[in-house]
Amino acid sequence: MGIEEQGGQKASPIAPATGKLGVMVVGLGAVATTMIAGVEAIRRGLAKPIGSLTQMGTIRLGKRTDNKSPLIKDFVPLAKLDDVVFTGWDIFEDNVYESAAHAKVLDEKTLEQLKPFLETIKPLPAVFDQYYVKRLNGTHVKTGKNKRDLAEQLRADIQAFKKTVDRVVMIWAASTEIFIEPTAVHQSIEAFEAGLENNDIAIAPSQIYAYAALSEGVPFANGAPNLTVDFPAMVELSKRNAAPICGKDFKTGQTLMKTVLAPALKARLLGVRGWFSTNILGNRDGEVLDDPQSFKTKEESKLGSLDYIFQPELYPDLYKNLYHKIRINYYPPRGDDKEAWDNIDIFGWLGYPMQIKVNFLCRDSILAAPIALDLVLFLDLAKRTPELRSLGIQEWLSFYLKSPQSAPGLYPEHDLFIQSMKLKNTLRHIMGADLITHLGLEYYD
Ligand SMILES: NC(=O)c1ccc[n+]([C@@H]2O[C@H](COP(=O)([O-])OP(=O)(O)OC[C@H]3O[C@@H](n4cnc5c(N)ncnc54)[C@H](O)[C@@H]3O)[C@@H](O)[C@H]2O)c1
Repeated sequence: MGIEEQGGQKASPIAPATGKLGVMVVGLGAVATTMIAGVEAIRRGLAKPIGSLTQMGTIRLGKRTDNKSPLIKDFVPLAKLDDVVFTGWDIFEDNVYESAAHAKVLDEKTLEQLKPFLETIKPLPAVFDQYYVKRLNGTHVKTGKNKRDLAEQLRADIQAFKKTVDRVVMIWAASTEIFIEPTAVHQSIEAFEAGLENNDIAIAPSQIYAYAALSEGVPFANGAPNLTVDFPAMVELSKRNAAPICGKDFKTGQTLMKTVLAPALKARLLGVRGWFSTNILGNRDGEVLDDPQSFKTKEESKLGSLDYIFQPELYPDLYKNLYHKIRINYYPPRGDDKEAWDNIDIFGWLGYPMQIKVNFLCRDSILAAPIALDLVLFLDLAKRTPELRSLGIQEWLSFYLKSPQSAPGLYPEHDLFIQSMKLKNTLRHIMGADLITHLGLEYYD
């Protein structure tokens, strides 16, 4: 049995995933349209759900000798892709086909095949304020007498959608907002609601969406690094209304690599003097991140992982003065095809220096789309699981996020392999199966 886990006793049953799962996506840009078009392509048998743990992943049950590794989607009751229905909000009026064509992630041939379906998904008017995303200016926006009024309008959108589906999950795939630090307004539900009434400047649109979702008992995932649900008022609201939340900022390219490499270096007690990470990208996300205030939000999210993984307070000789630098440069010719370079200055036995170079030529939205899908499906599962739904933060979903959220006083777990084990053990646990600790002494009795 694992140290942090309590074992495989049977918990109360999980409600089945019957009927339609409504997915409300905030921001129908590159990531969102790649996810939606991808789900439709998969439903039609045109492509495989590569990169999606919920669709392709397996889970080992019992001993290695038992040879029992079902697909995760056959082991836990997840919504089927055929039952997923999408809607969303955007500050531009483009339907999902037009927006996907603009994003240029998927090729024209694929988009043409999916066009009749994609055209039917048209954004609802958004809650937006350019103060929070300097580089964008959209016209398809709601107006209201204050932020509370805007929250009520979003709640009305959710209520209307709820009438057409059986369950709802919301995910933020909209632009990165400026860096905001929590203030008094974020400390309790009452303070937050007063802040909505007074148009408090520390309440950004993403928080208004999250407030609307959680008030409606709708789970909420945050694909961007904004301060959105990671403060006491939202955690309280999430618990009160049994509306699960998780951390923030999809862990896709560079940070994925970081949270794989850093645990390896640490496991072998190799020191690190410096880690320089740079990126070029030319999509709209890159344009938004070109603004220093949005970049700061992203930078903070990207910086966190190394400190937590290396634990310099425990290993001062190896990691105390690590110089960690992150740059993101907007470079239009590349579009969504981001290029990331990492230079890692490490040192080994007797302090002798070495270097590692990583050059990841990735496709941002191709990496993010399956993460967005998995988060939606797993949050819906959490909502239907009595043992999970009122916990607030779903730490087991840290696997997908650059900035995992954890209980107060608990450091977030960034190591991808610990995160993966935590996720799978959570699934085993809620299904009453034995946890797997990889001890394995029994094979040698
Ligand atoms: N693709 C990745 O690898 C990746 C990884 C981590 C995080 N993210 C984050 O995911 C988010 C989406 O990325 P993207 O590449 O799809 O960006 P994008 O610019 O293509 O799409 C964002 C969309 O959100 C809309 N929008 C902005 N503010 C809004 C609001 N208040 N309400 C409704 N819509 C709003 C924009 O009009 C745009 O259509 C970004 O915040 C990005 O930082 C992406």
